[in-house]
Amino acid sequence: MALAGCSNDDPEPTAASTTSTTVATTTTLAALDEPTRPWVIAHRGASGLAPEHTFASYDRAVQAGADFIELDIQLTSDRKLVVLHDPVLDRTARGSAENCTGSIDAHTLAQVETCDAGTWFNEANPDRADPTFADQRIPTLPAVLDRFGTDVRYYIETKKLLAGKGMEEALVEALDAAGFTKTASISQQIVIQSFDAESLRTVKRLRPDLTLVQLLYASGEPIDPATLGEIASYADGIGPSISNVDEALLTAAHERCLVVHPYTADDPAELAKLLDLGVDGIFTNRPDTLAPLADRHELAAPCP
Ligand code: G3P
Ligand code: CA
Repeated sequence: MALAGCSNDDPEPTAASTTSTTVATTTTLAALDEPTRPWVIAHRGASGLAPEHTFASYDRAVQAGADFIELDIQLTSDRKLVVLHDPVLDRTARGSAENCTGSIDAHTLAQVETCDAGTWFNEANPDRADPTFADQRIPTLPAVLDRFGTDVRYYIETKKLLAGKGMEEALVEALDAAGFTKTASISQQIVIQSFDAESLRTVKRLRPDLTLVQLLYASGEPIDPATLGEIASYADGIGPSISNVDEALLTAAHERCLVVHPYTADDPAELAKLLDLGVDGIFTNRPDTLAPLADRHELAAPCP
């Protein structure tokens, strides 16, 4: 996705439509128009309304008009990409202890697919419980891409546990297989994020066309402009904690052509404050709350 003329790489030309049947099919799919408001990034889906990282939460994100579905990816022991936030299954999976507890990378996809990914949410949120959530499963990345196709944009995080251990290659393979190829216009609908700079650099080597966002851990100190300068050499934006977002950070980031997408806010007053400050998007568990607020703001280009 071109970010206000600040791409670090010129986009490659679209492949000739006669190259092959597969390429012709994928490259003729039109990408969604770029959002004109600050991006509504549905954090783990609409995870305030339904169990995180399930089709139920992604469905609700789409219904709420989110601009992006945020996905955290992990690798199973048989090298399958699944969408799961924690490196361990215990918090959000229910089922046999053998299949549904412990580290995700110690389990096969077949084991993980036996787990119920929704009951924990019903237990934790009785006011939002839905018996059908118990049928939800931990999805694979290809299954999510297949289900939602080009109707949505994807904001994908390479999680640190297995970043650099084949995750990036598997990610690119999954994107290619779903038609989000290097030359397809629909690839503009993909953003890759990580706390791990090396993971982003690996993605950049594999797919220089993709938009990259460097996540930053919450810090008691202001973010050093020198850090932003370094990030601008390989990424298109930053994802700071909301606790680190102020006017100075926005100015320093925008001066370096970096967009700013803070994580994670749900409270309407907090969302409004961030939007008034001029952020370029927000990770939220409540896209239904953010969408109408974001509609009142123009997306300002970070660079002329
Ligand atoms: O990706 C932005 C935000 O999701 C980072 O925090 O821990 O929820 O992945 P986390
Ligand atoms: Ca994340």
